Amino acid sequence: MKAVCISKANTIELLDVEEPTIKQENEVKVKIKRVGICGSDMHIYHGTNPLATYPRIVGHEVTGEIVKTGKDVNRVTVGDHVVIEPITFCGECYACKSGRPNVCKEVSVFGVHEDGGMREFVTLPEKQVHQVDSEIEWDEAVMAEPYTIGAQATWRGNVKEGQTVFIQGAGPIGITVLKMAKLRGATVIISDFTNERLALAKENGVDHTINPKEVDSMTKINEITNDEGANVVIDAVGSPQTFELAVEVASPAGNIVTLGFNETPSSIAMMHITKKELTITGSRLQTNQFGKVVELINTKQLTHNGLVTHRFHINNVKEAFEFIEKNPDKVRKAVIEFE
Ligand SMILES: NC(=O)c1ccc[n+]([C@@H]2O[C@H](COP(=O)([O-])OP(=O)(O)OC[C@H]3O[C@@H](n4cnc5c(N)ncnc54)[C@H](O)[C@@H]3O)[C@@H](O)[C@H]2O)c1
Ligand SMILES: [Zn+2]
Ligand SMILES: [Zn+2]
Repeated sequence: MKAVCISKANTIELLDVEEPTIKQENEVKVKIKRVGICGSDMHIYHGTNPLATYPRIVGHEVTGEIVKTGKDVNRVTVGDHVVIEPITFCGECYACKSGRPNVCKEVSVFGVHEDGGMREFVTLPEKQVHQVDSEIEWDEAVMAEPYTIGAQATWRGNVKEGQTVFIQGAGPIGITVLKMAKLRGATVIISDFTNERLALAKENGVDHTINPKEVDSMTKINEITNDEGANVVIDAVGSPQTFELAVEVASPAGNIVTLGFNETPSSIAMMHITKKELTITGSRLQTNQFGKVVELINTKQLTHNGLVTHRFHINNVKEAFEFIEKNPDKVRKAVIEFE
């Protein structure tokens, strides 16, 4: 079968590998239908993801159909359409015991720390698959994992109806955060340097947009919120500057959520945090968000709505990675298809 392998930085190969077989009775075999290409896959490709090891079959945004099940599998059956939950964890450490296995000290992400879904078939424990209604299109189902990132960030930020939420960055992640914040009933402001991305945010229900090249974010937010500030600020850019701005524009009693993995320190005055009693939380991957997200996909409350812009056959995967690299303005989400 075909598998997309990043053998080392900047080298992507379409390999012919042996088809996997079920080894444990709790496993299912999935015929892959679509795999989304994420910013982090591009980082693995460029050798800039410190967590990834090589050679690596990438792909953590994965949907497909069950073609075989082990004897102990009882939640899903052959023919079911599923999305894959891409994390495994130890179950023993403090984070796992606190119900936060996504930050387990031994967390392993499918397609990052271990081989992922960009191949024709995978086998994995049934607890890692979630059933999606079979009438849902593959292009919708493949967005489940990115939506869980938005679901986690809005859960970590405790986004509620009536609040004003400021999202920095209208890339794919900012847009998934936007969708989840709107479903939670918030008024949402989003910023981005690219007007094309702000236009996509408008198509996805944002209430106010800011291009920081054209207007001052702080002034605009004060104007919108009657000088109160944003009740929740979610940083979907991840630069030292966006983190600094988050602390400044948050309202008293506000929450700040970081999503970025930037190692460069920000310069933040403690005074803002103490005086306004801010809560600052990180948000990484997801905990228990797949069930809710799949329900929202099944009931068509979550639709990609213009996010999936490009499809490439697995045979043309090199072309796909090159295209995304050269056309960041055109590509919102590109997916690999298999049929
Ligand atoms: N924590 C997690 O679980 C998780 C998961 C996926 C991605 N991420 C992180 O989320 C971030 C966003 O991911 P993405 O795929 O959407 O990235 P992206 O690069 O496609 O989008 C980022 C957007 O931010 C905009 N931007 C840059 N500087 C800005 C600024 N100062 N103000 C406003 N907008 C600005 C860019 O124009 C771009 O449109 C990245 O840092 C990524 O590492 C985190
Ligand atoms: Zn991703
Ligand atoms: Zn653990």
